[in-house]
Amino acid sequence: MNRSITLVGVAALIAMSTSSFANEHGASKARADAPSTEVAWTPETLALIRSGNAQKGSQLANEQMCASCHGHAGIAQSNNWPSLAGQRAEYTYKMLQDYKNGSRNTYPLMTVLAKPMSDQDMADIAAFYASFKLPPVPVGTVIDKALADKAELLVMKGDGNRLLAPCMSCHGYKGEGNVVDVPAMAGQTPEYFIRTMQDYKTGKRSNDVYSRMRLMAHSLSDQEIIELANYYANLTQ
Ligand code: HEC
Ligand code: HEC
Repeated sequence: MNRSITLVGVAALIAMSTSSFANEHGASKARADAPSTEVAWTPETLALIRSGNAQKGSQLANEQMCASCHGHAGIAQSNNWPSLAGQRAEYTYKMLQDYKNGSRNTYPLMTVLAKPMSDQDMADIAAFYASFKLPPVPVGTVIDKALADKAELLVMKGDGNRLLAPCMSCHGYKGEGNVVDVPAMAGQTPEYFIRTMQDYKTGKRSNDVYSRMRLMAHSLSDQEIIELANYYANLTQ
């Protein structure tokens, strides 16, 4: 009961200032006044992303050696790195912008790589990765089916006591993502999934508009995050 009251309080704070959450919880103080992203979903931005040229994106990805970590077809080489295959172009575009301007500062190398990219480069790269199907179960991952099954309730129904909306209400029944900036997660590498959820939980990752994921992650236990990682890694199309 106390917990729900606290969360309602936090939700109200966030309604006033989308960036206050991390500060309230003592994390990311330096970014307390910064917006979670500089990307605005204007018709111009959406049109730019739609104009992305996958072939040019493929060339850029080759030149920059993105494949050395994210794989030639966007399927990560290690479960520590995210797969990008089949990801929604808007989300990939937003991540590259967020790394470039420091809104997402969870991995310095991605910031270094995104810095020289133009808006058009990002749209082209986003189109390239969006042109693949979503990944199969990550190579070398042994899915714990019992853990994955435990996550199903949270994914499908959420938890009213903790004001947790079902994951699928935003991320889709099949983990396929949603308009505009909600990423696909089917077949996502579990180690990366767990790390980024922990980053939302501590506020180290704070580029989610309206704190949508920080709020979710803050209410989840470490064990639930592991269960969810197993669930999504095993959820193939
Ligand atoms: C040395 C390995 C490495 C290389 C090379 C690399 N990446 Fe990454 N990339 C990562 C890691 C690790 C992350 C997750 C970091 C984090 O937690 O923020 C990431 C994250 C991303 C994300 C966000 C994924 C998500 O699901 O949120 C995108 C998009 C991305 N990289 C695109 C690229 C592109 C495009 C290139 C080439 C220009 C590239 N990466 C090169 C390791 C790499
Ligand atoms: C209210 C809508 C909403 C709900 C409900 C929601 N998410 Fe999200 N999720 C988002 C958005 C939007 C993003 C992208 C945020 C950003 O820009 O960083 C995201 C990002 C993520 C990411 C990062 C993906 C990546 O590639 O880095 C993970 C993991 C994730 N969500 C897991 C979950 C899980 C697990 C649940 C259920 C417990 C859940 N989400 C419920 C909206 C939602």
